[in-house]
Amino acid sequence: MLDKVKEFINEVSAFNSNSKEEIEAFRIKYLGSKGLLKGLFAEFKNVDPKQKKEFGQALNTLKTTAEKKVETLNNALEGNGEQKSFYGDLSRPAEPIELGARHPISIVKNQIIDVFSRIGFTISEGPEIEDDWHNFTALNLPEYHPARDMQDTFFVEKHKNVEKDMLLRTHTSSVQIRYMENNKPPIRTISPGRVFRNEDISARSHCIFHQVEGLYIDTDVSFADLKQTLIYFTKEMFGKSKIRLRPSYFPFTEPSAEVDIYWGLKTETDYKITKGTGWLEIMGCGMVDPNVLKNTKIDPEKYSGFAFGMGIERIAMLLYQIPDIRMLFENDIRFLEQFKSVI
Ligand code: PHE
Repeated sequence: MLDKVKEFINEVSAFNSNSKEEIEAFRIKYLGSKGLLKGLFAEFKNVDPKQKKEFGQALNTLKTTAEKKVETLNNALEGNGEQKSFYGDLSRPAEPIELGARHPISIVKNQIIDVFSRIGFTISEGPEIEDDWHNFTALNLPEYHPARDMQDTFFVEKHKNVEKDMLLRTHTSSVQIRYMENNKPPIRTISPGRVFRNEDISARSHCIFHQVEGLYIDTDVSFADLKQTLIYFTKEMFGKSKIRLRPSYFPFTEPSAEVDIYWGLKTETDYKITKGTGWLEIMGCGMVDPNVLKNTKIDPEKYSGFAFGMGIERIAMLLYQIPDIRMLFENDIRFLEQFKSVI
């Protein structure tokens, strides 16, 4: 009896096959519910008690050897299957490529840049930490000028290595001063960028936001040129070309105006965002004050120009019906994912 089991162990160890059917037949023969091992275990009670220990151990060896054999042969078989195709399983679906989304501020900024670059405007950028000259004084806002209060400023603590007072720029008009200092007219440039104002955060305003400011300087630039440029912009950007200019005040432009576009009163939202008037304020503008030209060594007798400035958040909120400016800074993935389809 014991010899028989030992013979089976040898037989099992020697078995080899790469056919699925043969391996299955082998499994049934030894390990199946009516298999050899079942019979041998049933014989156990008839074995001479002196041999029981050795017989039992041999039976267990036979069982584990058979089980291991079936497992290794089946594994080898599966591995072979994969190697059948050089490229692996070609019917498997491809890994999905997750596309990101552009931030609405970037989308709107790029659209504005696009509209102005089509009529020859260049893009200029400058530092976010500015000195007083570029953010205020050169813009016709000397020290103690009351209009400085229009833009609550974050001042940077004076550092012993810096002789000038520094601040976080309150508008990108500072970039225009830098551009005028370093370039001769004709000048056509827009300055997109982040600006800072010491204001309370609410649904409508934030202490950090983005602007695009534009500057055009050449001989014989008139208010009519400004108006025509604004009409071109609103038409390209919003598909609406009805605008109105309300007299306003900025220290760096004279005359100055606030630009409203006629948004319409077709839907309930139109009523809500225009407060029932149909009109929406979108930017400030004006003819560059001769003092600003003088401050940047451009001859006001020879040249004139216009400037305008708008907030990107405001326009993004308008275009995408975003009810709260803070949503633009929270980076909630559920909010940002909604802009996936916009380039
Ligand atoms: N700099 C102004 C602001 O930030 C906007 C502006 C720019 C107004 C140019 C007129 C001309 O409020």
